[in-house]
Amino acid sequence: MLNTLDELEKKAMLELPGATSEDALNELRTMYLGRKGVLTQMLRQISTVTAEERPLFGKRSNEIKESLSHAIYEALERLKSSRKDDVLLKETIDVTLPGRTVGRGHLHPVTRVSQEICRIFARMGFNVVEGPEVETDYYNFEALNIPKDHPARDMQDTFYVEENIVLRTHTSPVQIRTMEKMKPPVRILSPGRVYRPDSDVSHTPMFHQIEGLMVDRGVTFGDLKGTLTYFLKQIFGADIFLRFRPSFFPFTEPSAEVDIQCVMCGGKGCRVCGQSGWLEILGSGMVDPAVFENVGYDPEEVTGFAFGLGVERIAMLKYGISDIRLFFENDWRFLEQF
Ligand code: DAH
Repeated sequence: MLNTLDELEKKAMLELPGATSEDALNELRTMYLGRKGVLTQMLRQISTVTAEERPLFGKRSNEIKESLSHAIYEALERLKSSRKDDVLLKETIDVTLPGRTVGRGHLHPVTRVSQEICRIFARMGFNVVEGPEVETDYYNFEALNIPKDHPARDMQDTFYVEENIVLRTHTSPVQIRTMEKMKPPVRILSPGRVYRPDSDVSHTPMFHQIEGLMVDRGVTFGDLKGTLTYFLKQIFGADIFLRFRPSFFPFTEPSAEVDIQCVMCGGKGCRVCGQSGWLEILGSGMVDPAVFENVGYDPEEVTGFAFGLGVERIAMLKYGISDIRLFFENDWRFLEQF
């Protein structure tokens, strides 16, 4: 019986190198060590072994069981690690190749121009404040001296949310909100989105404005001219020609629109400037006494100037863009040029 055990071990050890796959090794294990395996079968026959041989028989079979299962385990491990080596070899990475760069975004041209304008005014002591885009009739119109029958209130010119609630049509209501909250001196700038039901090459239903307001004792029209001239020369260059043209706004008296000489044709007259040689760039004026009264300022004591400009319009002239809608189409080919 002991001989049979030795032979069994020899046979198994000889078969082992032939089992080169995981399946083959597992099969070998079942065949020898499994519940119905050869070794297990032999152990069952222990009763047929003589009493003297029995302890030795038990010892040998345990030894064989252990060495065999150890050998199979090792063969399996070798197999696994050589498979890992294969994979590593196949998947070599060329660390000298340049990496794939992630495209970096940048600010939208409208944001860029808006920030540039705010920076110029910041140098003159203007602080940035913001106001709500959904406004009451009072702040958007009434307090700015725009009476109920003013054409700007027409359904065609204003998005109404409710009877007395609108999407603000300009940034001017921030003037009122600011003056209600603080005493003069006031020097603020207010950038933001505004809304009007308009759509063509030079109008979009949403666009950006920047409002400016300065109030103090003794502020004059000369201050308005000096401030806006400095600003426009900063943004369009020192050689730009500009003119102040009398105009009308309900919330300023007197009012002036500021034109710059056409940047496209240099003043000769072209399609962009409607052959006039001039481009309208912003609205401005001395704050109307009626507006001061609405916020509780004494018009006998303080004076001030205000202005409002369209950011897209300035960006279009600065970069030579002929269609405002390009700003909002999110076309990469357009945006990546800035
Ligand atoms: N709110 C005017 C508009 O949207 C622009 C404007 C004109 C603002 C004159 C002002 C101003 O503050 O004084 O067309």
